[in-house]
Amino acid sequence: MARAFVTGWPVGHSRSPLVHKYWLQKYGIEGDYLRHPCKVEDFDSFIESFQDDGFIGGNVTLPHKETAFSNVQKADSTAKRLGAVNTVWIENDTIMGGNTDGYGFSANLDEFANGWSDEKRLKRGALVLGAGGASRAIIDALMQRGFKKITIANRTLPRSVELRDMFGEPCCSIAYKDIGEIEKNASIIINTTSIGMVGTELEDATPLSLNGFNSDTIVHDIVYTPLITPFLHEAKTRGMKTVDGLGMLLHQAVPGFEKWFGVRPEVTPELRAVLLADLGEVS
Ligand code: ATR
Repeated sequence: MARAFVTGWPVGHSRSPLVHKYWLQKYGIEGDYLRHPCKVEDFDSFIESFQDDGFIGGNVTLPHKETAFSNVQKADSTAKRLGAVNTVWIENDTIMGGNTDGYGFSANLDEFANGWSDEKRLKRGALVLGAGGASRAIIDALMQRGFKKITIANRTLPRSVELRDMFGEPCCSIAYKDIGEIEKNASIIINTTSIGMVGTELEDATPLSLNGFNSDTIVHDIVYTPLITPFLHEAKTRGMKTVDGLGMLLHQAVPGFEKWFGVRPEVTPELRAVLLADLGEVS
């Protein structure tokens, strides 16, 4: 039986098994998808020998994404640009690595914010809040879509400067306090920080006030616990278009499932409802 994994440390919270097991059942595929907790010191040997453990590939999550990039035998172009791998599979006896986070980000917006990357919006640019790992994949996806300006705002300015230097044009870095009129004309704002996530110190907080932003700015939060974060709630109150983060999780899983099990799965409202039920949200 074909078996895939999600590995990380910790990995107990991962919703990926729910997504892949749903698709395995839906498409009548005899296979399995398992959590494989793996400590940092054990990761090298796991990636080198997962085939011996009966796996055909899997997902890699924190804190192993960068190590996975060094360990795979061949990385696709997206993984090379990011220096991080979240999906591994075998092709012609070679351990391959890819990164589907940016794909998931874009596909989610394609589904829920039609026109988010039309010409006028590309010109007005994007405002990205946060400069961690998730932010990288999103900045890369925005660049691939052709955004003409990408402003990276972060609490710790040197981290956003580092990302600007890594990606170059059309990125710029800024401190939160310096966000002004120009940034407020952005066609989309993306929160990639954990602010607003349930169970954290800042679960009631928003990363930024939306005062002065254009009313047609799309507000997207990659946090999906809760589904409607305080940031999205504020945006809704102001009548702005919002997109929650659940679709990014669902869409990023599509390319991996296709590589391992040979069927390109669909992200449907039914799958979304399964995840929402698990998260304790109403669909
Ligand atoms: P990930 O890889 O999941 O993106 P990360 O690398 O820990 O996670 O990055 C988390 C992001 O959230 C960072 O941009 C972080 O800002 P700093 O670089 O200044 O640490 C941001 N973040 C987390 N907690 C924050 C807070 N209380 N206020 C502002 N930004 C915060």
